[in-house]
Amino acid sequence: MSAHTEPASPPAADPAVASLDVRGLDFAYPDGTTALHGVDLRIEPGERVALLGPNGAGKTTLVLQLNGILAPTGGEVVVGGLPVRKPHLQEVRRRVGIVFQDPDDQLFMPTVREDVAFGPANFGVRGDELTARVEAALEAVGMAEHADRSPLHLSGGQRRRVALATVLSCDPEILVLDEPSSNLDPVARRELAEVLLGLDRTLLMVTHDLPYALQLCPRSVVVDGGRIVADGPTRALLADDGMLRAHRLELPFGFTLA
Ligand SMILES: Nc1ncnc2c1ncn2[C@@H]1O[C@H](COP(=O)(O)OP(=O)(O)O)[C@@H](O)[C@H]1O
Ligand SMILES: [Mg+2]
Repeated sequence: MSAHTEPASPPAADPAVASLDVRGLDFAYPDGTTALHGVDLRIEPGERVALLGPNGAGKTTLVLQLNGILAPTGGEVVVGGLPVRKPHLQEVRRRVGIVFQDPDDQLFMPTVREDVAFGPANFGVRGDELTARVEAALEAVGMAEHADRSPLHLSGGQRRRVALATVLSCDPEILVLDEPSSNLDPVARRELAEVLLGLDRTLLMVTHDLPYALQLCPRSVVVDGGRIVADGPTRALLADDGMLRAHRLELPFGFTLA
């Protein structure tokens, strides 16, 4: 490409660029509640990071900034080098795959296959490529044999995995999961962990399930009062009783760090 050619579409994700770069992010809701104060968070390609913090800390507010559902009051969010701003929102929404806490918010088509095809079709993928994307996403979550079933007839764990596939099929730069283990029985919780460990993706996972953070995410970030109050190796953070207590985090009864 000549130095004078303008690229027609946004630049492709570059492994030398952070998957997610949140810089000095401030946010206040219209009623004046300041939910985020100067949040800085950089996540490199392939990292898996847990986002921990008590209720009301600002976790969901931060997630909603990552694909432009909410716009910052100050600072900015950059995804794979692309600033989250109005002109880029369609591409940003492809790059940031958010799996919401309730799979029913994400599944609305008659079959699993149609739900998983919906996102990439919306981004212009067609024909054989669309079929291949859907099959690969369902394979990755262990749901290929259920492609023609109705999402309504699946178990909670299966629905959660299909919701994940609806986002994977868009080939996101970063996967963001809000409380993925909530309301899952122990087997479904473990099966989802196995799926997530098998993905070669940058991951940001909001969770109250500290053992899940330890199993899945080498790094954790603790948010409280709209500020990042700790950021480090998950095991080291979970061993810091004083920090956990100060931010209303608690390991389950009987759980000990090996
Ligand atoms: N729509 C809203 N309007 C006003 N304040 C809100 C709204 N949503 C959340 N908040 C407030 O913003 C802060 C952060 O909330 P939230 O991001 O939902 O926290 P978390 O997800 O960590 O529980 C809290 O003080 C909460 O009450
Ligand atoms: Mg929340």
